[in-house]
Amino acid sequence: MKVDVDRAIEKVVIDEETIYKRVKQLSKELNDYYDDVEEPVIFLGILKGSVMFMAELAKRINFEVNLEFMDVSSYEGAQSSGNIKIEKDIDTDVSGKEILIVEDVVDTGSTLKALREILLKRGAKEVKIITLLDKPEGRKTEVKVDRTGFKIPNEFVVGFGLDYNQKYRNLPYVGILRREIYEKKGE
Ligand code: IMP
Ligand code: MG
Repeated sequence: MKVDVDRAIEKVVIDEETIYKRVKQLSKELNDYYDDVEEPVIFLGILKGSVMFMAELAKRINFEVNLEFMDVSSYEGAQSSGNIKIEKDIDTDVSGKEILIVEDVVDTGSTLKALREILLKRGAKEVKIITLLDKPEGRKTEVKVDRTGFKIPNEFVVGFGLDYNQKYRNLPYVGILRREIYEKKGE
């Protein structure tokens, strides 16, 4: 079945070129920040939304990293739920390690707040957060986001990893999903 992008996307909010430019700047900042690390930094991607952002970032990193992924999302449809469920954990011992959580979008903040606490409890030395997108208006709990690609308004977006019911992750840009798509029953 072909994706009818014109029907699904109301507006492109961040195009491909703009994303790559920003990712380049962010990786430069990370290369500076982690300049003198002695052990590999764990880049912990949150499945599945962070996959594209992670790939683009990681390619431009010049210090040692381990790429790990965890599935903690409890987001269903277009509504964010407060509790996280670890669907897929990492089997790496994180004690004493520097971790960078790589996320697609921070909305209420509850996913990252909970995850950060779990990792610190497991003995991580440092847990930093980088996200491609941030929706500050959606915030319900305070969480320190260390680096953000783009701040966006409180709209439901898809593309560059972000989905609606598993669709549209592969779009090379970030776009606002037409309301009719997620307000339609049974979709
Ligand atoms: P939070 O716990 O509310 O910050 O939830 C963040 C998670 O909700 C993200 O990792 C996404 O999986 C999902 N999410 C939040 N906003 C959007 C959106 O606009 N499009 C797609 N997924 C979203
Ligand atoms: Mg996510």
